[in-house]
Amino acid sequence: MSENRPEKILEFFIDGHPVTAKDGQTVIQAAREHGFDVPHFCWHPQLSVPGNCRICMVEVESDNGDPWFDIGCNMPVTAGMRVLLNSDTVKKLRKDTMQFITLNHPVDCGICSKSGECTLQDYHYEHNGAASLSRDRKNHATKFYPLSDRIMLDNERCIMCTRCVRFTHEVSKTHALGAVYRGDHSLIRPAEDANFNDDVYSDNVIDICPVGALLSRENIDNSRVWYTEPTASVCPGCERGCNISIWHRRQAWAFKALDPKLNTRIERVTPRENPDVNGPWVCNKARDLAKILERPRAEQPMIAGRVVDRADAIAAAAALLAGAKKVVALVSSWGSNEELAAFQLTIAASLGDRLTAWVKADHQPVPGEVIEDDILIKADKNPNRHGALALFPPLPAEGLTAIPADADVVLVWGEGVPAAALPQGAQVIRLDAWAHADNEVAAVFLPISIQTERAGHYTNFAGVVSDFAACFTPAPLVTHAETLFGMLLSAEVGVRRASA
Ligand code: SF4
Ligand code: SF4
Ligand code: FES
Repeated sequence: MSENRPEKILEFFIDGHPVTAKDGQTVIQAAREHGFDVPHFCWHPQLSVPGNCRICMVEVESDNGDPWFDIGCNMPVTAGMRVLLNSDTVKKLRKDTMQFITLNHPVDCGICSKSGECTLQDYHYEHNGAASLSRDRKNHATKFYPLSDRIMLDNERCIMCTRCVRFTHEVSKTHALGAVYRGDHSLIRPAEDANFNDDVYSDNVIDICPVGALLSRENIDNSRVWYTEPTASVCPGCERGCNISIWHRRQAWAFKALDPKLNTRIERVTPRENPDVNGPWVCNKARDLAKILERPRAEQPMIAGRVVDRADAIAAAAALLAGAKKVVALVSSWGSNEELAAFQLTIAASLGDRLTAWVKADHQPVPGEVIEDDILIKADKNPNRHGALALFPPLPAEGLTAIPADADVVLVWGEGVPAAALPQGAQVIRLDAWAHADNEVAAVFLPISIQTERAGHYTNFAGVVSDFAACFTPAPLVTHAETLFGMLLSAEVGVRRASA
């Protein structure tokens, strides 16, 4: 369409209600925009339209009283058309379609990981509700077929909607899946000339599969979905900052007899749709977030490697800051906007000209990781570099060698700075969340919370701000950096006043 030509708007009717559609929209697209639900299996808003499941059948009234029926996912809206989504005939057609789709389905919901969030299960109750009319033996197929190192396929549960195949052709572009054989013997299989293991977006097919046919081998049978709940979060894996949901055990269903750590583990990660950031997708790094966030934690404040009370560690750090002539702070690109602002308003404001603060990269790409692509993945592996750079300049190009040799104190906030790379004469105050030998050689070490233990915001590479909420409670001596900066400021001001 020409950029100058105004978009044509059509008026039509859904179940007697006047509604509008943009020219070219299908019935399902327009209906969803107006809050009407049209059931669908094979249709997905981000994929092409194969029209193979037929569950989206709608009725269109005609002036001669002779209605016609067609699939709403492939039917363009025309001006004045009168669509019925829930006529008796439509309901009957849906019921028949559900009977057909479940002809060979094993209906093994009792042992299926998708049970509780399965479209087929939901539609059965909503649109069918009856036992199978067929008395024929069901076709059986391989129960667990490894599609890749990450994904298991239960062929019997597959309803051949082909969403997974189209995803690899149209979104991840690996063309790694296809269908073999025909009719009710069709099977989804890896393509012979591609490797599904190489698809770094592969796990999205688990989410978009409308049944329990595609299963994460990592999370399979970890927990029934109703024992878990999602918390809104942001993937820290790169500066895209994909919006995600972190699933963890519901408090009401917390284990009492088993290891309490099971109550605070990440059960799985799914995308949280945000059209401005990641649409409905994430890369597999987000799915593996537990590997980053569940590394061994640092939970004890230390002075020169000796475990101390938090108050003693804060007093020691404050004394170092108060007495220093030249302080260099290496600011975390994993800190939230709130933490960064707190650092600016407390430590940076108090030290004034005595402080040089530079933003560092907490994480670098790890070997074998995709550095960057034209789908989502960005080269900078830190979620809030953009937010940090809005307040502080970057570490100079020469890196840590830019730290003046006569710096009295180096404050390291976050990861990515080995002790050996710092000037030998400087006292190091280290704030970090993870257990590391470098913590023990710092003059003062203070453990801080991680993203799953606090709420905040990150600003991504494009300037879009995304929020995250806390899922878990930090260990008793682990402090939020935001709070810690306030405590350090009070203590540092106290030391300076006392010595004035
Ligand atoms: S595995 Fe799932 S997404 Fe793929 S065709 Fe079968 S039902 Fe559809
Ligand atoms: S693209 Fe980046 S932010 Fe998005 S899921 Fe992957 S690593 Fe995480
Ligand atoms: S959703 Fe329309 S045919 Fe499958």
